Amino acid sequence: MTITIHDLRAWKAEGRRWAMLTAYDHPTAQILDRAGVPVLLVGDSVANNVLGYPDTLPVTMEEMLHHTRAVARGVERSMVVGDMPFMSFQASVDDGVRNAGRFVKEGGAHAVKIEGPQLDLIHRLVDVGIPVMAHVGLTPQSVHGLGGFRVQGRGEAAHKVIDQALALEKAGAFAIVLEAMPADLGAEITGSVQIPTIGIGAGPGCDAQVLVVNDLLGITEKPPKLAKSYVDLRSVITEAARDFLRDVESGAFPDEEHSYS
Ligand code: KIV
Repeated sequence: MTITIHDLRAWKAEGRRWAMLTAYDHPTAQILDRAGVPVLLVGDSVANNVLGYPDTLPVTMEEMLHHTRAVARGVERSMVVGDMPFMSFQASVDDGVRNAGRFVKEGGAHAVKIEGPQLDLIHRLVDVGIPVMAHVGLTPQSVHGLGGFRVQGRGEAAHKVIDQALALEKAGAFAIVLEAMPADLGAEITGSVQIPTIGIGAGPGCDAQVLVVNDLLGITEKPPKLAKSYVDLRSVITEAARDFLRDVESGAFPDEEHSYS
């Protein structure tokens, strides 16, 4: 049975913590699903983590759908959330409804994530039956408007983030990502809303935590401060590639075991 928005709400009521990871491809989605990760986000961070763009702004709907389909084909139990890319919803609510619908209809996503306080759009999507994960604090699609990748909600600015979170809950979002804000603000928002908060650089007081899978696996060359690596896959891959090169150059591969008679 796929994890649903009701499971996540029940976990908040029980005080049970959970984790979300980004996933961008089929084999990784399969592994994370079988490992028991309840929610997989096909983040627009596929742009800089997989596609080689400098930030998330250039990634298109078609690219997002391509990766969402691959992830959706890999899961049995995880909820798949498609991240709506820059300019897929900002110009009009109608654009947003149409593109969110594509994530579900063509991408196989169970829900979408939308950056910023897009209250009218969230109302409409909830009406048409598409669950929405909201995202406040540092919203990378607004990097230029924010003047860079900076911690949000310090000092007086905390009120604005709290108000946004409350309004997003009221609009019908089923969860909210809190990105790059002081830990006490993350905890305060978590205590103020009934829906789960998912922190990334928002301290330990959130209901859930999310990491970019490339950061978790140690693939990212220069991971941000908020990320923790649980394995150094960059070194593992480098070692494996060098071992293979060495074996080919020396004639040790292919051996009899890997050849046909
Ligand atoms: O795209 C992404 O990876 C995200 C997470 C940081 C929440 O939006």
